[in-house]
Amino acid sequence: MNNEILYSKSFGISGRDFINAGTVSVKIKNILKEIGIKPEVVYRVSICCYEAEMNVVMYADAGNLDFKITKDEIIVSMEDKGPGIENIELAMKEGYSTATQEMREMGFGAGLGLPNIKNNSDEFRIESEILKGTKLYFKINLN
Ligand SMILES: Nc1ncnc2c1ncn2[C@@H]1O[C@H](COP(=O)(O)OP(=O)(O)O)[C@@H](O)[C@H]1O
Ligand SMILES: [Mg+2]
Repeated sequence: MNNEILYSKSFGISGRDFINAGTVSVKIKNILKEIGIKPEVVYRVSICCYEAEMNVVMYADAGNLDFKITKDEIIVSMEDKGPGIENIELAMKEGYSTATQEMREMGFGAGLGLPNIKNNSDEFRIESEILKGTKLYFKINLN
């Protein structure tokens, strides 16, 4: 397998910034469309990045999303500074959410973000440290 990185870009995400929320995943979607990645893959990467981005906006202080393309895959690593996740198994359950009333009124908090990332990626890892932050790593195959 050829793991050479053909494209790489890093994006900052600000916690609680609902004004700019979603812009990172839109940028990634546009990059992928522009270089001619097939729509099904663009769709899956966009969903995963959007959910990862929104979780930083909703639950963390700040984060960084690293996005890489190789010949065979799209690789995303997200790292945030924030409260971390106490129980990852619980957080991964469909429908589990600690979203506030205010967030729910904005349409967030279905508790499907992390399961969606897992289901739409080909490899998924999550790590978290209480009071420090959370790390996500996921890959989507191009072929
Ligand atoms: N980056 C993060 N930092 C801290 N907690 C998080 C983070 N991402 C997810 N969580 C926790 O995991 C729960 C489930 O996340 P998710 O499946 O995306 O659902 P939702 O965002 O709708 O709450 C969140 O409600 C939150 O408690
Ligand atoms: Mg979420």
